[in-house]
Amino acid sequence: MTRRRTAILISGGGSNMVALARDMVDPDHPARPCLVLSNRPDAGGLARAEEMGIATAVVDHRNFKGDRPAFEAEVTRALEAAETDLVCLAGFMRILTAEFIDRWAGRMLNIHPSILPLFPGLHTHARALEAGMAIHGCTVHEVISDLDAGPILGQAVIPVRQDDTPDALAARLLPMEHRLYPAVFRRFAIGDRTPVSLTS
Ligand code: GRF
Repeated sequence: MTRRRTAILISGGGSNMVALARDMVDPDHPARPCLVLSNRPDAGGLARAEEMGIATAVVDHRNFKGDRPAFEAEVTRALEAAETDLVCLAGFMRILTAEFIDRWAGRMLNIHPSILPLFPGLHTHARALEAGMAIHGCTVHEVISDLDAGPILGQAVIPVRQDDTPDALAARLLPMEHRLYPAVFRRFAIGDRTPVSLTS
């Protein structure tokens, strides 16, 4: 079976991108990275992708002044040029239109730093602490037009500590993200949607 060509979209450090790319170094992995694309030219993940020999692209959203369709048309051109089959959003911080999402229906994943459907949107760690949660976690889901609401493909859970700050909680969650996303993606890449659940 040919390995499915996978584009990973980032906006910053790309630690989840690195975790996915490292997992795909295994020649038996059903997918392989074909592109790392960022909406920010200063994203640290771009250099990390280049170090790993992965093609990169930048589509700077600031050049499109809020014209989402024009921005997404440029992103699509880069994805098509790389003959992309699957898309992993990994710390990608732009809202995508329903038209773009529909084009990738069933072929695009995202990782969100909460136990969805709890805490969709931003500032999830602070909100989990404010809510007095005893556990926190992350979710890998298929992307649909409703934000952070697609079918859940995997979740990882960590305990919340009494002295946790949002940053401490985020830092303790990140290694679980780096375990969860590759585990889910290996299944997803062969059409297996059996959910993955990880506990620390
Ligand atoms: C992580 O919290 C991830 O859950 C969210 O973006 C944050 C940064 O991810 N999607 P990364 O380190 O850029 O992969």
